[in-house]
Amino acid sequence: MSRREPVNLPKHVYPVDPWRIVEKQYYPRFLAQMETMFSVSNGYLGMRGVSEEGKPVFENGTFINGFYEKWPIVYGEEAYGFAKTGQTIVNVTDSKIIKLYVDDECFYLPVANLLAFQRSLDMKTGTFERELLWETASGKQVSIKSTRLVSYKYKHLATIAYEVKVLNANASVVICSEMRNDPCNQSNDGDPRRAKGFKGQVLIPQIYYSKDRRIVLSHTTRNSKINLACGIEHDIETDCPYEYNSECAQDFGKVSISVDARAGVPIKVIKYISYHTSDSDIPNELCSRVERTLNRAVFLGWSSILSTQKQYLDDFWHQSDILIEGSSDSVEAYQRTTELQQAIRFNLFHVLQASARAEGTGIPAKGLSGQAYEGQYFWDTEIYLLPFLIYTAPRSAKNLLKFRYSMLDEARKRARDLNLKGALFPWRTINGEEASAYYPAGTAQYHINADIIYALKKYVEVTGDESFLYREGAEMLVETARMWVDLGFFEGDSFHIHGVTGPDEYTAVVNNNIYTNMMARQNLQYAAQTIESIFQDYPDRFASLLDSTNLDMSEVEEWKQAAAKMYIPFAEEMGINPQDDDFLNKKVWDFENTPAHKYPLLLHYHPLVIYRHQVIKQADLVLAMFLLGSEFSPELKKSNFDYYDPLTTGDSSLSASIQGVMAFEMGYLEKAWQYFYRGMFMDLNDLGGNVKDGCHMAAMGGSWMLMIYGIAGMRDDNGTLSFNPRLPQDMKNLRFSLKVGDRVLRIHMEENSASYLLEQGSELVIYHQGEEVRITADIPVIVNSKPFWNGSSHQEESRKLIA
Ligand code: BGC
Repeated sequence: MSRREPVNLPKHVYPVDPWRIVEKQYYPRFLAQMETMFSVSNGYLGMRGVSEEGKPVFENGTFINGFYEKWPIVYGEEAYGFAKTGQTIVNVTDSKIIKLYVDDECFYLPVANLLAFQRSLDMKTGTFERELLWETASGKQVSIKSTRLVSYKYKHLATIAYEVKVLNANASVVICSEMRNDPCNQSNDGDPRRAKGFKGQVLIPQIYYSKDRRIVLSHTTRNSKINLACGIEHDIETDCPYEYNSECAQDFGKVSISVDARAGVPIKVIKYISYHTSDSDIPNELCSRVERTLNRAVFLGWSSILSTQKQYLDDFWHQSDILIEGSSDSVEAYQRTTELQQAIRFNLFHVLQASARAEGTGIPAKGLSGQAYEGQYFWDTEIYLLPFLIYTAPRSAKNLLKFRYSMLDEARKRARDLNLKGALFPWRTINGEEASAYYPAGTAQYHINADIIYALKKYVEVTGDESFLYREGAEMLVETARMWVDLGFFEGDSFHIHGVTGPDEYTAVVNNNIYTNMMARQNLQYAAQTIESIFQDYPDRFASLLDSTNLDMSEVEEWKQAAAKMYIPFAEEMGINPQDDDFLNKKVWDFENTPAHKYPLLLHYHPLVIYRHQVIKQADLVLAMFLLGSEFSPELKKSNFDYYDPLTTGDSSLSASIQGVMAFEMGYLEKAWQYFYRGMFMDLNDLGGNVKDGCHMAAMGGSWMLMIYGIAGMRDDNGTLSFNPRLPQDMKNLRFSLKVGDRVLRIHMEENSASYLLEQGSELVIYHQGEEVRITADIPVIVNSKPFWNGSSHQEESRKLIA
């Protein structure tokens, strides 16, 4: 299938480094992409990698998860039940601006005479750094070093250390640390994946004041009425004489520090930044919280904040790193492995950045690295990000599931809007209300209910957290199961679900989408099984469940019936499952005559043109074969994959990881590596051409799946862990860890063997290439692996994708 060429970051500017993303010279060509890649975030607060001067810029974004503006969705033609309220994450007060003047000459990157320049995102320290040497028009050489972080430990805190040194002369230096709220006026070029533009001011000023070197501004969103307070405070460290003054207005604040700089004497300004938001607490209260955060930050000081950040990341990598070692046979092989190492770390690091402090919120499709997809939450979280989080950061996984639970009442209302019983979770949302204005690819994706339950089930199986299952989980199970039995109907001897859209958004509003039916079946079965065990074993819990849901046990019988009779389409003559009742009757898309520049199809063809063809946006049935792998025979999987894979454009970044994992399972070497590299380098090589708008969080989570489910061949869809390693010849070692209940399992795979070590916790039984393996704490079990690839290599594919 034709595709965009990868954007290869030139190696002389972006040398490969296993722990950092480095840019070795000022390189405006990739300014927009690098803003995304260099963004720093903790899942609550995120800042794009825009330089301190604020210019040049593609999108100067600072985002707070869940801080959104709402707007009425205007339809040309209204209909009953259409989503009413759009929600868009707001680009909040920009607090990272620091401007520099040397002898009144303003430092501005595009015109500055740069004698040295480097920027880097350090994935070990959690910092974004810039170091440069500027020669002014009068020949003064000025070294400027800034280090920016958004703290993982202190949720509301970001910090910038800014250091200036005039090397060869005395000079008058002015450092202006600013904060600014530009009236939101982003434009949208018609790409439906980007955010809506607002006209006029979104943030309405409430409070503003300055106190010595501190400034606090507070605003409220015009329609959604959410309050924000943002403050900055400064430490100044220098042996040069200096003075400062502060000014502020409704939308602006500035602390100007004027220094009589002496040659070679450093001037260091530490800027502490805090944001607090709330839809219930008043601006005054938020301003006090900001002040408290700033006081604590000043008390802690820069070095302590920096070392806490490093400590947090040490812990993260100890649990979450995937370490690969390549063959040292050639420099090229070594380099390619390092590229891969950098890519997987980059992806996991951004997942951490999107999830670490996402408490009481979801994970936006772009994390907090861009405004695209409006900062909204989709199924991406449950299907693409939760596998990684469940196995490495179960607390974050639980927070995300709890967040879904907090939306249950809204989902109940939404089900009523759609004339359904139970609850229907929104396809896309921030505040719990459905925000999808295009129902065929939005609300019609009822599978979101089952996706959430799938993630819940996996979370419970892996962590053993039954108390969550029996409380929040049970209520979600009752309401989602109710929705399915009401949505579907019995015809003859089977249960059908009509008028839905599966994950493949190029095929909309169909009958019996197989992904939906199979996932709904699992949802119904899990609901019945859970409720029955609560009924039998936990009478108190059962009583409160009756109270919150009015459950009647006869409903459970209905769920079991519907699950047992669920219609799973099968085309006897072709030996495959149709994706839905009509899919195979459509004409196959003319791939041959579709040039590369016409992808993604959604930007070049009317939906109706796409809908009448056999053409797939992203893995749909193939995803079902991965998530519910044990429900298909190997032969059927193969026939299905052979039929559907060539029809799949991969126009969604969510596709490659799943196609890759399944190609590994099928043993299709070439395809497997193609998808592997596509998934792994989606963001680092800008394979979709839109990294400027933000990271593809689902693809990043998917890259963990490519490693663990793809190369390590892990499967867990029935609650038992099994591994079928498929290390290529030139990947000598693969190491990773999993948390399973109270256990930490450390896995080390080599070409011909694997070692499983239980670092802590009770005995675990797993399967290695079909053989049972019992693992007890602290005693590594080493087993042989049969060769899988027969001497083939992944270098060939990587060569095509990485310059
Ligand atoms: C995909 C959806 C996904 C959304 C947000 C769309 O292009 O088709 O499956 O949820 O992007 O990532």
